[in-house]
Amino acid sequence: MAKQITAIIVGAGHRALLYSLYALQNPEKFKIVGVADPDPIRRRKTAEMHGFGEDMCFESAEALAERPRLADAVINGTMDTQHVKTAVPLLRRGYDMLLEKPFAVNEDEMWELQRVAGETGRRVMICHVLRYAPFYVAVKERLLAGEIGDIINIQATEHVSYHHLAVSFVRGKWGNEEKCGAPMLLAKCCHDMDLIMWLKSGVAPRQVASFGSDFQFDPAKKPAGAGKRCLVDCGIEENCLYSAKKHYIDHPDRWSFYVWDCLEHLEKPTIEDKIQSLKTDNIHGRCVWDCEHTVVDHQSVAINFADGATATLNMIGGTAKAERNLHIIGTKGEIKGVFDDSVFTVRTIDTASESGWREEVVDLAIGGDKSGMTGSHGGGDLRLVEDFVRVLQGEQPSISCTNINDSLNGHLAVFQAEKARKTGTVCTMPQI
Ligand SMILES: NC(=O)c1ccc[n+]([C@@H]2O[C@H](COP(=O)([O-])OP(=O)(O)OC[C@H]3O[C@@H](n4cnc5c(N)ncnc54)[C@H](O)[C@@H]3O)[C@@H](O)[C@H]2O)c1
Repeated sequence: MAKQITAIIVGAGHRALLYSLYALQNPEKFKIVGVADPDPIRRRKTAEMHGFGEDMCFESAEALAERPRLADAVINGTMDTQHVKTAVPLLRRGYDMLLEKPFAVNEDEMWELQRVAGETGRRVMICHVLRYAPFYVAVKERLLAGEIGDIINIQATEHVSYHHLAVSFVRGKWGNEEKCGAPMLLAKCCHDMDLIMWLKSGVAPRQVASFGSDFQFDPAKKPAGAGKRCLVDCGIEENCLYSAKKHYIDHPDRWSFYVWDCLEHLEKPTIEDKIQSLKTDNIHGRCVWDCEHTVVDHQSVAINFADGATATLNMIGGTAKAERNLHIIGTKGEIKGVFDDSVFTVRTIDTASESGWREEVVDLAIGGDKSGMTGSHGGGDLRLVEDFVRVLQGEQPSISCTNINDSLNGHLAVFQAEKARKTGTVCTMPQI
């Protein structure tokens, strides 16, 4: 029987606790034995959830790193700008690590993490959860089987729904780049850039161009009559698509882990507690045009690869429905699909047929939570943890397995795209 892997949660937020569900579902394989987080409520809740004592609760990653190694691995779910500074001492202490994306917010940090991972020989797996979603795994398998030949072009689009945009990238934690340290392309689309690099694996990206802007939520575009807080002083709330009342009171469970995390100290917040918080200090009660919004709400990126192939990514925030589309065109055919439907078509050249082509529709028939396992990202979240555990048990990594080196190109392309967008130039990718 394979060894049980033990882990400590570092940064007991929404993401790390979600990954930790794998331990509750597979106790013989994976066990959470400790937590490090400055928030005493989160430490207590994590200890209760996984059944360990106060002696295994630490006030920070740094405090944990001062102790001898107490588990095989850590799940690092701290926020973006803390990833490298919390990861480095823990890698040096000997922990393997499941590390949230973006794993670094600039190039210097990125190289530092790569260097420390190399020096310590520890395994760092990045939470590029979409690589584990059955949709992208099935597409990758078709590519590896050579069904559409050599890739000439990849077209990826990501539509970010209006309510997701508002809660995360306008009112929420990633709306102001100066505060959160991550532009929208890094915070939201490092998955998509990673997927493009993974699908085109083995061929280096050479040049990157990019355009984008804050089309809707630039504070200068605030409509006449809008106030500072939707539930307090707004004259247009009734007709506004971004009313905090419509988003968070009419749909109190939607994005609840972001909207109501300021009420975590209450056992069961009532609707009155929620309304009061939106009226006073909850960041999600703010007018969307009064959030010091500095990130883009849409961006296009074009990439030129060493073999002459090209790729584009179009991210558009504020759509009615969230959707990721993928179209890959190769020398023998194409694959076209919608991630959210878990359906893609493989169309290949067929010189014998009257039409000149034949096609196969692949319906992964994944409904509900899209996975058969709890979690999200099309079933990717817990499949990623499963792979992490398997790798630490000494088994062969899956085709989705990320390591630092695989992920470098995706992050580098984001950094270059941001440089290209801000300077209006085409940027050359550093070669790794
Ligand atoms: N893979 C994905 O698809 C995906 C999706 C959403 C978010 N994320 C990423 O996940 C990460 C976590 O997001 P979240 O919403 O769960 O964050 P969160 O803010 O809820 O949790 C972060 C936790 O880190 C703790 N913390 C702060 N300093 C610390 C320190 N020095 N040592 C230990 N803990 C410390 C905080 O108290 C907090 O509890 C972010 O980087 C985010 O970008 C990834």
